[in-house]
Amino acid sequence: MSIEKILVIDDEELIRDFIAETLRRDNFEVATAENGKRGIALFKEKSFDMVFTDMKMPDLTGIDVLKKIKEISPGTIVVVVTAYGSIENAVEAMRLGAFNYLIKPFSPDTIEAVVGKATEHQKLLNENQFLREEVNRKGGNNAPQVIAESSFMKNVLKDVSRLAKSNASVFITGASGTGKEVVAQAIHCQSSRADRPFIKVNCAAIPETLIESEFFGHEKGSFTGANNKRIGRFELANGGTLMLDEVTEIPLTVQAKLLRAVQEQVFERVGGTNSIKVDVRLISTTNRDIKTAITEKVLREDLFYRLNVVPIHLIPLRERKDDIVPLAQYFLQNSSLENHKEVVEFSDSAIKKLLSYEWPGNVRELANVIERAVVMNPSNTIGPEFIFVDTYEQPKKTFAEEPSQGILPVGVSLQELEKRLIIETLHKQNNNRKKAAEILGISPRTLRNKLHTYNYNL
Ligand SMILES: Nc1ncnc2c1ncn2[C@@H]1O[C@H](COP(=O)(O)OP(=O)(O)OP(=O)(O)O)[C@@H](O)[C@H]1O
Ligand SMILES: [Mg+2]
Repeated sequence: MSIEKILVIDDEELIRDFIAETLRRDNFEVATAENGKRGIALFKEKSFDMVFTDMKMPDLTGIDVLKKIKEISPGTIVVVVTAYGSIENAVEAMRLGAFNYLIKPFSPDTIEAVVGKATEHQKLLNENQFLREEVNRKGGNNAPQVIAESSFMKNVLKDVSRLAKSNASVFITGASGTGKEVVAQAIHCQSSRADRPFIKVNCAAIPETLIESEFFGHEKGSFTGANNKRIGRFELANGGTLMLDEVTEIPLTVQAKLLRAVQEQVFERVGGTNSIKVDVRLISTTNRDIKTAITEKVLREDLFYRLNVVPIHLIPLRERKDDIVPLAQYFLQNSSLENHKEVVEFSDSAIKKLLSYEWPGNVRELANVIERAVVMNPSNTIGPEFIFVDTYEQPKKTFAEEPSQGILPVGVSLQELEKRLIIETLHKQNNNRKKAAEILGISPRTLRNKLHTYNYNL
């Protein structure tokens, strides 16, 4: 969060204007208050990133103001202004969470220096925030290890190192669990942005009403529940990389705003008027078929072309069998370490089993299967009986085996059939979209989008 809005509270008009004018000259948005009560009222009304408060005022003391502000918004930076003789007050203020203090008289340079320090401090706080998020997610900002033995994956890695140097937007497609996120992280870590944040937004997991604020942030009071100012993922990713995970799940209205942010790297916070400029590299992913998403008008075509400067498609694991054993060995090592188990090896028949399985869940499924083998296996060698793939296998019934009971309307197009099935399911569930989506095995948002293309309104 950068510092933009500053509140100056001082009963002495001369000092108040002096601070305010210095800050305005540096393009900050400044408001002033002539006493503590008025200052706090203003603070509650609008949001400020930083407050200068005088220590000795007729109504409230600077300490009172500081306490109150920290109560309302602990993240706001407060600087107290005090006279030379009362330094012990300043010490007390620091103990209570003031960022710094200024001793009267002071020059414009001193004001600018303290704002500069505060800006730097905020930047560090933000970075800590994503570092924490990153460390929580395995691997953090460290380059992920990408196992690539098949010629397909080797070529992907070659592409990654080539395109990492550019700022081009990358669009990674591929089935669930094929490694889209790992590849996205690898691109970031090999780019010149590696020491800047890698921020991920899971577009499918955020409720539709909050997604805009998640991207662009919001100003205090911009909607019910927006009690504090919040910065969005675009701003957090400034200088680094923003990964739009499951990009086809973004509501169309937000896609229009996203298009502008992607094109111009400029946006406004929800409820805000200031334009914020950023420098962000975008990596988008989806496991859906892009062409269908575009024809069904789930994804805006113009946005897709902006995001798809460099496409990367990851094929399923079963189509690059050379990766299976090296990946299994890599997960074996990792899981053994994590579970404090001695590293063992796979028997030949275990390897055969790994190689003959279809891996519908791709690399993620392989990782889970190996972890389970490590936990369950009692001996020095993992045999096929500990490769529990069957439990993950989908029943492979074909339609021929399953009598259709004569209810399938043979003769209509697949698209028409899908539409009828969706609407019928919805009716059977008394128009409960959540339940219908669950039965159909699609997300409520996908259901909504499909209904939209049918012009179907409840
Ligand atoms: N080439 C690889 N080398 C090492 N680990 C990998 C590789 N590919 C995938 N993984 C691991 O497999 C798991 C799934 O990968 P990832 O999350 O990147 O898949 P995804 O394509 O983003 O899946 P989804 O579409 O479900 O989000 C992760 O734990 C990841 O670390
Ligand atoms: Mg993913």
